[in-house]
Amino acid sequence: MNIREEMLQLLKESGDSFVSGEEISKRLGVSRTAIWKHIEELREEGYIFEAVRRAGYRLISTPDVMIAEEIKVGLKTRSFGQEVHYYATIDSTQNKCQELAKAGAPEGTLVVADQQLGGKGRLGRVWHSPAGKNIYMSLLLRPVLELQKCPQLTLLTAVAIVETVRDVCGIQADIKWPNDILLDGKKICGILTELNAESDRINWLIIGMGINVNAELDDFAADVQKIATSLRIVNGAPLRRVSLIQGILRRLEHLYEQYVREGFEPIKELWEAHAITIGKRVTIRTLQGSLAGFAEGIDDAGVLLVRQDDGTVTKVYSADVEIHA
Ligand code: BTN
Repeated sequence: MNIREEMLQLLKESGDSFVSGEEISKRLGVSRTAIWKHIEELREEGYIFEAVRRAGYRLISTPDVMIAEEIKVGLKTRSFGQEVHYYATIDSTQNKCQELAKAGAPEGTLVVADQQLGGKGRLGRVWHSPAGKNIYMSLLLRPVLELQKCPQLTLLTAVAIVETVRDVCGIQADIKWPNDILLDGKKICGILTELNAESDRINWLIIGMGINVNAELDDFAADVQKIATSLRIVNGAPLRRVSLIQGILRRLEHLYEQYVREGFEPIKELWEAHAITIGKRVTIRTLQGSLAGFAEGIDDAGVLLVRQDDGTVTKVYSADVEIHA
Protein backbone atom coordinates (compact mmCIF):
# COMPACT_ATOMS: atom_id res chain seq x y z
CA MET A 1 0.00 0.00 0.00
CA ASN A 2 1.21 3.53 -0.67
CA ILE A 3 1.11 6.39 1.86
CA ARG A 4 -2.30 7.69 0.78
CA GLU A 5 -3.83 4.20 0.98
CA GLU A 6 -2.34 3.64 4.44
CA MET A 7 -3.53 7.05 5.60
CA LEU A 8 -7.07 6.44 4.39
CA GLN A 9 -7.09 3.03 6.02
CA LEU A 10 -5.94 4.51 9.32
CA LEU A 11 -8.58 7.27 9.25
CA LYS A 12 -11.33 4.82 8.23
CA GLU A 13 -10.41 2.44 11.04
CA SER A 14 -10.52 5.32 13.55
CA GLY A 15 -14.16 6.03 12.71
CA ASP A 16 -15.42 9.07 14.63
CA SER A 17 -12.22 9.56 16.64
CA PHE A 18 -9.52 12.03 15.68
CA VAL A 19 -6.05 10.79 14.79
CA SER A 20 -3.29 13.26 15.56
CA GLY A 21 -0.89 14.44 12.87
CA GLU A 22 1.89 13.17 15.11
CA GLU A 23 0.48 9.67 15.22
CA ILE A 24 -0.11 9.50 11.46
CA SER A 25 3.38 10.82 10.90
CA LYS A 26 4.89 8.20 13.26
CA ARG A 27 2.84 5.28 11.92
CA LEU A 28 3.50 6.05 8.25
CA GLY A 29 6.99 7.46 8.56
CA VAL A 30 6.25 10.73 6.74
CA SER A 31 6.36 14.40 7.68
CA ARG A 32 3.31 16.36 8.83
CA THR A 33 3.59 18.54 5.73
CA ALA A 34 3.35 15.42 3.56
CA ILE A 35 0.24 14.33 5.47
CA TRP A 36 -1.38 17.72 4.98
CA LYS A 37 -0.60 17.55 1.23
CA HIS A 38 -2.28 14.13 0.95
CA ILE A 39 -5.30 15.39 2.89
CA GLU A 40 -5.61 18.34 0.50
CA GLU A 41 -5.38 16.05 -2.56
CA LEU A 42 -8.07 13.78 -1.15
CA ARG A 43 -10.26 16.81 -0.43
CA GLU A 44 -10.02 17.66 -4.12
CA GLU A 45 -11.37 14.19 -4.90
CA GLY A 46 -14.39 14.95 -2.68
CA TYR A 47 -13.37 13.51 0.70
CA ILE A 48 -14.47 15.59 3.69
CA PHE A 49 -12.11 15.72 6.67
CA GLU A 50 -12.41 17.62 9.90
CA ALA A 51 -9.09 19.04 11.04
CA VAL A 52 -8.83 20.37 14.59
CA ARG A 53 -5.67 21.87 16.11
CA ARG A 54 -4.14 19.54 18.67
CA ALA A 55 -6.78 16.81 18.07
CA GLY A 56 -5.79 15.96 14.48
CA TYR A 57 -7.88 14.68 11.58
CA ARG A 58 -11.00 12.61 11.18
CA LEU A 59 -12.82 11.42 8.09
CA ILE A 60 -16.35 12.81 7.86
CA SER A 61 -17.45 11.42 4.51
CA THR A 62 -16.20 9.44 1.57
CA PRO A 63 -17.29 10.36 -1.96
CA ASP A 64 -18.53 7.82 -4.52
CA VAL A 65 -15.20 7.80 -6.36
CA MET A 66 -13.39 4.78 -7.80
CA ILE A 67 -9.80 5.99 -7.29
CA ALA A 68 -7.19 3.31 -6.59
CA GLU A 69 -6.92 4.15 -2.87
CA GLU A 70 -10.64 3.70 -2.35
CA ILE A 71 -10.76 0.36 -4.17
CA LYS A 72 -7.68 -1.04 -2.47
CA VAL A 73 -8.48 -0.14 1.13
CA GLY A 74 -10.55 -3.04 2.44
CA LEU A 75 -10.13 -5.16 -0.73
CA LYS A 76 -9.88 -8.81 0.29
CA THR A 77 -8.19 -10.42 -2.72
CA ARG A 78 -4.81 -11.95 -3.42
CA SER A 79 -4.19 -10.40 -6.86
CA PHE A 80 -7.40 -9.14 -8.49
CA GLY A 81 -7.45 -5.34 -8.19
CA GLN A 82 -4.20 -5.17 -6.24
CA GLU A 83 -2.91 -2.99 -9.09
CA VAL A 84 -5.47 -0.36 -10.07
CA HIS A 85 -5.26 2.26 -12.82
CA TYR A 86 -8.03 4.84 -12.45
CA TYR A 87 -9.00 7.44 -15.05
CA ALA A 88 -11.61 10.17 -14.71
CA THR A 89 -12.02 10.05 -18.51
CA ILE A 90 -10.61 7.59 -21.02
CA ASP A 91 -11.47 6.31 -24.51
CA SER A 92 -11.97 2.71 -23.38
CA THR A 93 -10.68 0.80 -20.34
CA GLN A 94 -10.22 -2.17 -22.70
CA ASN A 95 -7.66 -0.28 -24.80
CA LYS A 96 -5.74 0.92 -21.75
CA CYS A 97 -5.71 -2.59 -20.28
CA GLN A 98 -4.36 -3.94 -23.62
CA GLU A 99 -1.54 -1.41 -23.44
CA LEU A 100 -0.68 -2.38 -19.87
CA ALA A 101 -0.83 -6.09 -20.75
CA LYS A 102 1.57 -5.54 -23.64
CA ALA A 103 3.95 -3.76 -21.26
CA GLY A 104 3.91 -6.81 -18.93
CA ALA A 105 1.34 -5.83 -16.26
CA PRO A 106 0.56 -8.70 -13.87
CA GLU A 107 -2.58 -10.83 -13.74
CA GLY A 108 -5.31 -9.09 -11.76
CA THR A 109 -4.43 -5.57 -12.98
CA LEU A 110 -7.60 -3.49 -13.09
CA VAL A 111 -8.37 -0.44 -15.21
CA VAL A 112 -11.33 1.63 -14.01
CA ALA A 113 -12.86 4.78 -15.48
CA ASP A 114 -15.56 7.19 -14.40
CA GLN A 115 -16.37 8.02 -18.03
CA GLN A 116 -15.50 6.48 -21.41
CA LEU A 117 -15.53 8.43 -24.63
CA GLY A 118 -15.19 5.33 -26.83
CA GLY A 119 -16.77 2.57 -24.75
CA LYS A 120 -16.92 -0.70 -26.73
CA GLY A 121 -19.78 -3.18 -26.63
CA ARG A 122 -20.13 -6.68 -28.12
CA LEU A 123 -20.53 -7.15 -31.85
CA GLY A 124 -18.88 -3.80 -32.60
CA ARG A 125 -21.49 -1.79 -30.75
CA VAL A 126 -20.94 1.37 -28.71
CA TRP A 127 -21.19 1.19 -24.90
CA HIS A 128 -22.63 4.52 -23.78
CA SER A 129 -20.54 5.53 -20.74
CA PRO A 130 -21.65 8.78 -19.01
CA ALA A 131 -19.62 10.22 -16.11
CA GLY A 132 -20.25 9.92 -12.38
CA LYS A 133 -22.83 7.13 -12.52
CA ASN A 134 -21.67 3.69 -13.52
CA ILE A 135 -18.80 1.23 -13.42
CA TYR A 136 -16.55 0.74 -16.44
CA MET A 137 -13.69 -1.61 -15.71
CA SER A 138 -11.36 -4.10 -17.38
CA LEU A 139 -9.51 -6.91 -15.64
CA LEU A 140 -6.35 -8.52 -16.99
CA LEU A 141 -6.00 -12.31 -16.78
CA ARG A 142 -3.14 -14.50 -17.93
CA PRO A 143 -4.66 -17.99 -17.77
CA VAL A 144 -2.91 -21.15 -18.90
CA LEU A 145 -5.86 -22.34 -20.93
CA GLU A 146 -6.79 -23.81 -24.29
CA LEU A 147 -8.08 -21.17 -26.65
CA GLN A 148 -11.54 -22.66 -27.09
CA LYS A 149 -12.15 -22.59 -23.33
CA CYS A 150 -11.92 -18.79 -23.06
CA PRO A 151 -15.71 -18.21 -23.24
CA GLN A 152 -15.93 -20.14 -19.97
CA LEU A 153 -14.25 -17.22 -18.22
CA THR A 154 -16.89 -14.82 -19.55
CA LEU A 155 -19.62 -17.06 -18.16
CA LEU A 156 -17.73 -17.22 -14.86
CA THR A 157 -17.64 -13.41 -14.75
CA ALA A 158 -21.40 -13.21 -15.25
CA VAL A 159 -21.88 -15.54 -12.27
CA ALA A 160 -19.56 -13.40 -10.11
CA ILE A 161 -21.49 -10.23 -10.96
CA VAL A 162 -24.95 -11.72 -10.38
CA GLU A 163 -23.88 -13.15 -7.03
CA THR A 164 -22.29 -9.87 -5.94
CA VAL A 165 -25.38 -7.87 -6.90
CA ARG A 166 -27.41 -10.33 -4.82
CA ASP A 167 -25.09 -10.05 -1.81
CA VAL A 168 -24.39 -6.30 -1.90
CA CYS A 169 -27.77 -4.97 -3.07
CA GLY A 170 -30.14 -7.80 -2.15
CA ILE A 171 -31.38 -7.86 -5.75
CA GLN A 172 -31.82 -11.04 -7.78
CA ALA A 173 -30.55 -10.50 -11.33
CA ASP A 174 -30.58 -13.03 -14.18
CA ILE A 175 -28.11 -14.04 -16.86
CA LYS A 176 -29.21 -14.03 -20.49
CA TRP A 177 -26.91 -16.05 -22.73
CA PRO A 178 -24.10 -15.49 -23.24
CA ASN A 179 -23.43 -12.88 -20.59
CA ASP A 180 -25.94 -10.08 -20.38
CA ILE A 181 -27.17 -9.43 -16.87
CA LEU A 182 -30.81 -8.46 -16.62
CA LEU A 183 -33.11 -7.05 -13.97
CA ASP A 184 -36.84 -7.16 -14.66
CA GLY A 185 -35.96 -8.19 -18.23
CA LYS A 186 -33.76 -5.11 -18.84
CA LYS A 187 -29.99 -5.02 -19.12
CA ILE A 188 -27.90 -3.73 -16.21
CA CYS A 189 -24.54 -5.12 -17.24
CA GLY A 190 -22.61 -6.19 -20.31
CA ILE A 191 -19.36 -8.15 -20.47
CA LEU A 192 -16.84 -7.94 -23.30
CA THR A 193 -13.92 -10.38 -23.40
CA GLU A 194 -10.95 -9.65 -25.63
CA LEU A 195 -8.12 -12.03 -26.29
CA ASN A 196 -4.47 -11.84 -27.28
CA ALA A 197 -3.16 -15.22 -28.39
CA GLU A 198 -0.66 -16.99 -30.65
CA SER A 199 -1.75 -20.14 -32.49
CA ASP A 200 -2.77 -22.19 -29.43
CA ARG A 201 -1.35 -20.15 -26.57
CA ILE A 202 -3.14 -17.36 -24.74
CA ASN A 203 -0.95 -14.39 -23.93
CA TRP A 204 -3.68 -12.58 -22.04
CA LEU A 205 -7.37 -12.07 -21.77
CA ILE A 206 -9.17 -8.87 -20.84
CA ILE A 207 -12.60 -8.99 -19.27
CA GLY A 208 -14.46 -5.70 -19.65
CA MET A 209 -17.47 -5.04 -17.45
CA GLY A 210 -19.94 -2.20 -17.89
CA ILE A 211 -22.42 -1.98 -15.02
CA ASN A 212 -25.30 0.48 -14.85
CA VAL A 213 -25.20 1.40 -11.18
CA ASN A 214 -26.56 4.89 -10.50
CA ALA A 215 -27.78 5.86 -14.00
CA GLU A 216 -31.29 7.28 -14.10
CA LEU A 217 -33.78 6.76 -16.89
CA ASP A 218 -32.86 10.09 -18.52
CA ASP A 219 -29.25 9.01 -18.79
CA PHE A 220 -30.21 6.42 -21.40
CA ALA A 221 -31.05 7.38 -24.99
CA ALA A 222 -34.78 7.07 -25.75
CA ASP A 223 -34.40 3.78 -27.68
CA VAL A 224 -32.17 2.31 -24.96
CA GLN A 225 -34.64 3.15 -22.15
CA LYS A 226 -36.80 0.21 -23.29
CA ILE A 227 -34.02 -2.33 -22.94
CA ALA A 228 -31.74 -1.01 -20.17
CA THR A 229 -32.06 -0.23 -16.49
CA SER A 230 -29.78 0.40 -13.52
CA LEU A 231 -29.38 -0.89 -9.98
CA ARG A 232 -30.46 2.52 -8.72
CA ILE A 233 -33.70 2.48 -10.72
CA VAL A 234 -34.58 -0.95 -9.34
CA ASN A 235 -33.22 -0.37 -5.84
CA GLY A 236 -34.72 3.09 -5.44
CA ALA A 237 -31.55 4.58 -3.93
CA PRO A 238 -27.98 5.23 -5.12
CA LEU A 239 -25.28 2.70 -4.38
CA ARG A 240 -21.57 3.03 -3.58
CA ARG A 241 -19.76 1.85 -6.68
CA VAL A 242 -16.61 0.81 -4.84
CA SER A 243 -18.52 -1.67 -2.65
CA LEU A 244 -19.68 -3.41 -5.81
CA ILE A 245 -16.23 -3.38 -7.40
CA GLN A 246 -14.63 -4.88 -4.29
CA GLY A 247 -17.35 -7.52 -4.07
CA ILE A 248 -17.03 -8.46 -7.74
CA LEU A 249 -13.23 -8.73 -7.57
CA ARG A 250 -13.40 -10.95 -4.50
CA ARG A 251 -16.07 -13.24 -5.97
CA LEU A 252 -14.37 -13.35 -9.36
CA GLU A 253 -11.04 -14.32 -7.84
CA HIS A 254 -12.68 -17.00 -5.72
CA LEU A 255 -14.51 -18.52 -8.73
CA TYR A 256 -11.42 -18.24 -10.94
CA GLU A 257 -9.35 -20.16 -8.36
CA GLN A 258 -12.08 -22.79 -8.13
CA TYR A 259 -12.13 -23.00 -11.94
CA VAL A 260 -8.35 -23.51 -12.08
CA ARG A 261 -8.64 -26.28 -9.43
CA GLU A 262 -11.81 -28.07 -10.46
CA GLY A 263 -12.52 -27.09 -14.05
CA PHE A 264 -15.70 -25.71 -15.63
CA GLU A 265 -18.32 -28.14 -14.27
CA PRO A 266 -19.08 -26.37 -10.94
CA ILE A 267 -19.08 -22.96 -12.67
CA LYS A 268 -21.44 -24.25 -15.36
CA GLU A 269 -23.86 -25.41 -12.66
CA LEU A 270 -23.84 -21.95 -11.07
CA TRP A 271 -24.27 -20.27 -14.45
CA GLU A 272 -27.26 -22.51 -15.27
CA ALA A 273 -28.84 -21.74 -11.89
CA HIS A 274 -28.84 -18.01 -12.74
CA ALA A 275 -29.59 -18.26 -16.48
CA ILE A 276 -33.03 -17.45 -17.83
CA THR A 277 -32.36 -18.52 -21.43
CA ILE A 278 -32.19 -22.27 -20.86
CA GLY A 279 -35.40 -24.26 -21.21
CA LYS A 280 -37.15 -21.46 -23.12
CA ARG A 281 -38.21 -20.91 -26.71
CA VAL A 282 -35.86 -18.42 -28.30
CA THR A 283 -35.19 -16.57 -31.51
CA ILE A 284 -31.52 -16.29 -32.41
CA ARG A 285 -30.32 -13.42 -34.58
CA THR A 286 -26.86 -13.44 -36.11
CA LEU A 287 -25.31 -11.54 -39.01
CA GLN A 288 -26.02 -14.66 -41.10
CA GLY A 289 -29.76 -14.72 -40.33
CA SER A 290 -32.16 -15.89 -37.65
CA LEU A 291 -33.54 -19.16 -36.34
CA ALA A 292 -36.16 -20.15 -33.77
CA GLY A 293 -36.12 -23.11 -31.42
CA PHE A 294 -35.76 -24.40 -27.87
CA ALA A 295 -32.66 -23.45 -25.86
CA GLU A 296 -31.49 -26.81 -24.50
CA GLY A 297 -28.39 -25.75 -22.61
CA ILE A 298 -24.76 -24.82 -23.08
CA ASP A 299 -21.86 -27.10 -23.83
CA ASP A 300 -18.46 -27.03 -22.15
CA ALA A 301 -17.30 -24.24 -24.45
CA GLY A 302 -20.23 -22.07 -23.39
CA VAL A 303 -21.87 -22.55 -26.79
CA LEU A 304 -25.69 -22.35 -26.78
CA LEU A 305 -27.47 -25.46 -28.07
CA VAL A 306 -30.76 -24.70 -29.83
CA ARG A 307 -33.12 -27.50 -30.88
CA GLN A 308 -35.21 -26.52 -33.88
CA ASP A 309 -38.69 -27.91 -34.51
CA ASP A 310 -37.32 -30.47 -37.00
CA GLY A 311 -35.12 -31.91 -34.24
CA THR A 312 -31.76 -30.60 -35.44
CA VAL A 313 -29.56 -29.08 -32.78
CA THR A 314 -27.66 -25.96 -33.81
CA LYS A 315 -24.62 -24.65 -31.99
CA VAL A 316 -24.78 -20.88 -31.49
CA TYR A 317 -21.45 -19.19 -30.86
CA SER A 318 -22.40 -15.53 -30.92
CA ALA A 319 -25.80 -13.92 -31.40
CA ASP A 320 -28.57 -11.78 -30.01
CA VAL A 321 -31.17 -13.86 -28.26
CA GLU A 322 -34.85 -13.06 -27.86
CA ILE A 323 -36.52 -15.11 -25.14
CA HIS A 324 -40.21 -15.97 -25.60
CA ALA A 325 -42.61 -16.20 -22.68
C1 BTN B 1 -21.93 -5.62 -24.24
O1 BTN B 1 -22.08 -5.18 -25.39
O2 BTN B 1 -22.87 -6.16 -23.63
C2 BTN B 1 -20.59 -5.54 -23.57
C3 BTN B 1 -20.34 -4.17 -22.98
C4 BTN B 1 -18.99 -4.05 -22.28
C5 BTN B 1 -18.72 -2.64 -21.79
C6 BTN B 1 -17.49 -2.54 -20.95
S1 BTN B 1 -17.37 -1.00 -20.10
C7 BTN B 1 -15.75 -1.38 -19.60
C8 BTN B 1 -15.07 -2.03 -20.79
N1 BTN B 1 -14.52 -1.00 -21.66
C9 BTN B 1 -15.13 -0.97 -22.85
O3 BTN B 1 -14.85 -0.19 -23.78
N2 BTN B 1 -16.10 -1.92 -22.89
C10 BTN B 1 -16.16 -2.68 -21.67
